[in-house]
Amino acid sequence: MPRVVRNVMSNIVRMSFSIEASLMKRFDALMQESGYENRSEFIRDMIRERLVLHSWQGDDEVLGTLMVVFNHHTRGLTERLVTIQHEHDATALASTHVHLSHHLCAEMILIRGRADDVQDLAQSIRHQKGVFHAGLILSSTGQEIGRL
Ligand code: NI
Repeated sequence: MPRVVRNVMSNIVRMSFSIEASLMKRFDALMQESGYENRSEFIRDMIRERLVLHSWQGDDEVLGTLMVVFNHHTRGLTERLVTIQHEHDATALASTHVHLSHHLCAEMILIRGRADDVQDLAQSIRHQKGVFHAGLILSSTGQEIGRL
């Protein structure tokens, strides 16, 4: 276990830990390659990244961006995409529509909700006839990882 020292004057704790020299070398190389100037900031961001990844597996609230590419000539599809957004527990906050070609449209939908509800909404859209691709990017609402 790492040693943890709490600074009573602030909310910051200091910690020290043991690590193999070869692993530390790779860590420092990755840190520099990633544009970080100090280990503390790099480790803090790594921890946040893990917390966000973890939140996607449970019922934590997440923010998702769903990019849908579909054929707008498919009968009833546009209406079905709207109905699906109304019917799910996750909330579609905003969407942007782009006309890609004569047949194809792309829609980007920003979704907020429990991780499994957001993934459920994405899956429902993915299964519609005429939808060629629905890529979901999950992020955090920031409440668990915020700096404040
Ligand atoms: Ni369009």
